[in-house]
Amino acid sequence: MSSRLFTPITLGGIELPNRIAVAPMCQYSADDGSATDWHLQQWMTYAMSGAGMITLEMTDVERRGRISHGCLGLYSDANEAAAKRALDAARRVAGPGVKFGVQLAHAGRKASCRRAWEGGGPLGADEDPWQTVSASAIPYDDGWHTPHALTEAGIDVLVEKFAAGARRAARAGFDFIELHSAHGYLLHQFLSPLSNRRTDRYGGPLENRLRFPLAVAGAVRDAAPALMIGARISVTDWVDGGLSVEDGIGIARAYRDAGLAYICCSSGGNSPLQKIPGGPGYQVHLAEAVKKAVGVPVRAVGLIDEPRQAEDILAQGRADMVALARAILADPRWGWRAAATLGDPFTVAPQLARGAFLRKKWAQDRQA
Ligand SMILES: Cc1cc2nc3c(=O)[nH]c(=O)nc-3n(C[C@H](O)[C@H](O)[C@H](O)COP(=O)(O)O)c2cc1C
Repeated sequence: MSSRLFTPITLGGIELPNRIAVAPMCQYSADDGSATDWHLQQWMTYAMSGAGMITLEMTDVERRGRISHGCLGLYSDANEAAAKRALDAARRVAGPGVKFGVQLAHAGRKASCRRAWEGGGPLGADEDPWQTVSASAIPYDDGWHTPHALTEAGIDVLVEKFAAGARRAARAGFDFIELHSAHGYLLHQFLSPLSNRRTDRYGGPLENRLRFPLAVAGAVRDAAPALMIGARISVTDWVDGGLSVEDGIGIARAYRDAGLAYICCSSGGNSPLQKIPGGPGYQVHLAEAVKKAVGVPVRAVGLIDEPRQAEDILAQGRADMVALARAILADPRWGWRAAATLGDPFTVAPQLARGAFLRKKWAQDRQA
């Protein structure tokens, strides 16, 4: 009998061959939003990781929505062509049934920053910074750029930019879109009372704070009707006065009602005051809470790096899928290891097959 991890799952009409997802990971290696050879090799590597769901990095719907000068975008013809080139190559080497998605995003007040390995944080005056936007004119932290609060007309323009990004994603050939509604980026900035102090119909109670994210979800769905659409949310801000787990459940319910097919349950990212308890599977209880309350398919993420740990989360009914970020960077064939550990049959490209037996040996050695 197959493990839960290697049992296919259908989300929004597309079948994923297993329940392992590559989590979105910014590579800060784009050229004015366009995928480069770095992305080509990285997407091809993900394609052969053994994961059935590949969620490509935060991809911004306009230039000023990028975190850094190196972030990926889908705001120009060049971006679309470059994404298609890398995606086509990844598909040619992918395992059977692997599906590729793009995480559509806008960084809002957390844009105009340095690349992670340059220390992150806001770009200095001599580093070609740009004006950021958000729900309200509140910087992320002391010393960060103060964003302009979007006008209602500006919000409408951005909804259309998300739709345009979704049309580009469909033309480039992606199977699904994940709305980045977590980690303190623009959609989250509207959702959280920490960053949204608006007094118009986009601010106040959660119902109003959901108005812009739901407009985006609807516009993206209409713009790319053939694609499956899901979302990543921060279920809690981990700050008093910020989003609570109850709010996270409300957001997940609203997204489900808007037709989104899955919710990836992450947390935090919208305040430097957050206190996130770390440790293995530190966010799984959030996925479990959303799954129980809303009944929408959920993906758990956060320090899930051992195959048996992943299998237990699914077998105990706490989540429907798992997403891995750092574990995939550390072990780009993690899925092979999981199959070897759990005793599942697994197909690898014939060129690589002679290496696969070592995974079995290593898995047995680990258990000995
Ligand atoms: C290099 C790197 C880049 C990341 N970029 C993104 C991103 O583009 N979008 C996102 O939602 N999360 C991003 N994350 C967060 C991961 O998707 C994931 O939620 C987090 O690392 C916890 O999972 P892990 O313990 O398996 O690494 C990034 C993480 C890493 C390590």
